Amino acid sequence: MGDQALLSNIKEAANYIRHQYEAIPQIGLILGSGLGVIADLVENPTVIEYSDIPHFPISTVEGHAGELLLGTIHGKHVLLMKGRFHLYEGYGVDVVSFPVRVMKELGVEKLIVTNAAGGINTSYEVGDLMIIKDHINFTFRNPLIGPNINELGVRFPDMSEAYSRNLRQTAREVASEQGLELPEGVYAGLLGPSYETPAEIRMLRTLGADAVGMSTVAEVTVARHAGIEVLGFSCISNMAAGILDQPLSHQEVMETTERVKPKFLKLILGIVAKLG
Ligand code: 6GU
Repeated sequence: MGDQALLSNIKEAANYIRHQYEAIPQIGLILGSGLGVIADLVENPTVIEYSDIPHFPISTVEGHAGELLLGTIHGKHVLLMKGRFHLYEGYGVDVVSFPVRVMKELGVEKLIVTNAAGGINTSYEVGDLMIIKDHINFTFRNPLIGPNINELGVRFPDMSEAYSRNLRQTAREVASEQGLELPEGVYAGLLGPSYETPAEIRMLRTLGADAVGMSTVAEVTVARHAGIEVLGFSCISNMAAGILDQPLSHQEVMETTERVKPKFLKLILGIVAKLG
């Protein structure tokens, strides 16, 4: 796609959304597998089907709805993506990250991303939440490849604070007020859709990863390019391959996220309340 085509697609999608919801959403939320229930936090939501938004892709995987919600949480205007796009569905990094471009165009300044991830760090337990401190791009794809569009960001964006130090501090404060253990760890983003082998998990652990998943990296890369501050959480929905003597299943991922949802909701609510 040419520069002008991308820019006009972003503007068309944003204009469509602006016609349904006038206020400027300052906070964006992207919810992972089974975590869509965070959408219940949005007061008086305007619900927009992805399929109605010009140039928006449509998600295909079970457990991922395809809706954009705009409304308020604690009086703050938010834009929430219920259901995201994954590389394993066959979408390119440009498609996966397009909604973040639209968020920026609409005025989003802070982005909260959540995902379900496999625990690599053996001190983690199923059901733990983790603040994403940093990520490793194990997809070896980058949504910024191609001519840089200067209106959208710089050619070589800094990724030394991909996940905002300030926002992580806020998350830790809220967690401590709520008596919630909230470790910080490194998220390795892979293509999927097969889970990793035990050998791959040992490799990832050696390389410094604490959790592994199939999302987030492309969206966060584009968010940083766009100058959006990011806060990320992984729900440790299962331990990664080779740690426990049991096979991995999407069923377990869904069951864990279902179980964790009250504490996850409370955490996100507490954080949004504190954001400036
Ligand atoms: Cl173990 N691996 C990956 N790549 N994604 C996951 C996962 C594991 N558990 C939940 N999502």
